[in-house]
Amino acid sequence: MSGVQLNKVIKKYGDVQVIHGVDLQVADGEFCVFVGPSGCGKSTLLRMVAGLEETTGGSIGIGSRDVTRLDPAERGVAMVFQTYALYPHMTVRENMGFGLKMNGYPKAEIDAKVAEASRILKLDEYLARKPAALSGGQRQRVSIGRAIVRGPEVFLFDEPLSNLDAELRVEMRVEIARLHKEIGATMIYVTHDQVEAMTLADKIVVLRKGVIEQVGAPLDLYNDPDNRFVAGFIGSPSMNFLSGTITPEGVEVPGLKTVIPRQLAPAMHGRPVIVGLRPEHVAVGEGDALHVDLTENLGGVAFTHLMTDTGEKVVVEQRGTSAAKEGSRIGLTIDPALMFLFDPQTEQRIR
Ligand SMILES: Nc1ncnc2c1ncn2[C@@H]1O[C@H](COP(=O)(O)OP(=O)(O)O)[C@@H](O)[C@H]1O
Ligand SMILES: [Mg+2]
Repeated sequence: MSGVQLNKVIKKYGDVQVIHGVDLQVADGEFCVFVGPSGCGKSTLLRMVAGLEETTGGSIGIGSRDVTRLDPAERGVAMVFQTYALYPHMTVRENMGFGLKMNGYPKAEIDAKVAEASRILKLDEYLARKPAALSGGQRQRVSIGRAIVRGPEVFLFDEPLSNLDAELRVEMRVEIARLHKEIGATMIYVTHDQVEAMTLADKIVVLRKGVIEQVGAPLDLYNDPDNRFVAGFIGSPSMNFLSGTITPEGVEVPGLKTVIPRQLAPAMHGRPVIVGLRPEHVAVGEGDALHVDLTENLGGVAFTHLMTDTGEKVVVEQRGTSAAKEGSRIGLTIDPALMFLFDPQTEQRIR
């Protein structure tokens, strides 16, 4: 097995540059997730690792080999796509073994590899079926099985769960986590779903417009984001952002009609900031600074949607039921230790 190294990787389509010099080390056996909004370059980067897209600049290594100019088949990778691309006229068994058969593997070896993949993915009872007789989740398991039988050093997944309904997505997410534990291979997994990223990853790579914004373990990104983009992208519902000013007493937030106590260097006094507060870190409290727009009671958890007089939206998440009356006014209870600050211009974190 092998890790993956990206060194100053660049991708251009004609004059348009979509990947801007990405440096990344994925360790052997690591589960690495590329996450970011649609169009940020996740698929492009993954396809460059696979060899399905040419690399315009920089280099890509797998294990100790420079694979930048190698064909996909020579790279020791297997890719699983959002669309399953199974052969409709073949059974599950034939679909999984087809690649090996085309490469001239002996039948006994193909059978053994298919049996092993089928055991791992719990597909034994479906081996004789054709794809049309399978659910979406089962079809995606077959396409993962097709990757497993090839025994790749690196698995590449491009939004493999996006075509599944919510319940199946959760189920398959657990399956993929289990698969990684059992096989222990290096995996790179692309998703725009931050919950998938948080639950699956050893390491998350947050991408935006072809640039890495931050790399880290899921909880490190949640607890210690480097910038406003990562802070807003990781965590659901998203972090609330409000305009404020640093004063000697703390951070004055006009929208909340309060000063949140925090000692900051005198040189920073008077400086405008963006205040970041996670919905789960604030609570409905005394006061009348905010208007209650909407309450959503989901049973176990409640979201209260608020609006400041300065036109800024704030969401509060709580366990249980929200008692806030729509149309009334309330205040916010804030833990100053759980407040994030960002520079309004650069959007970088102020620590
Ligand atoms: N074949 C192509 N020709 C030109 N531009 C492309 C091509 N493929 C992707 N792009 C552009 O590259 C950027 C990144 O795309 P992609 O990697 O598919 O994003 P993601 O997977 O993060 O949604 C987008 O702006 C997209 O329009
Ligand atoms: Mg994509």
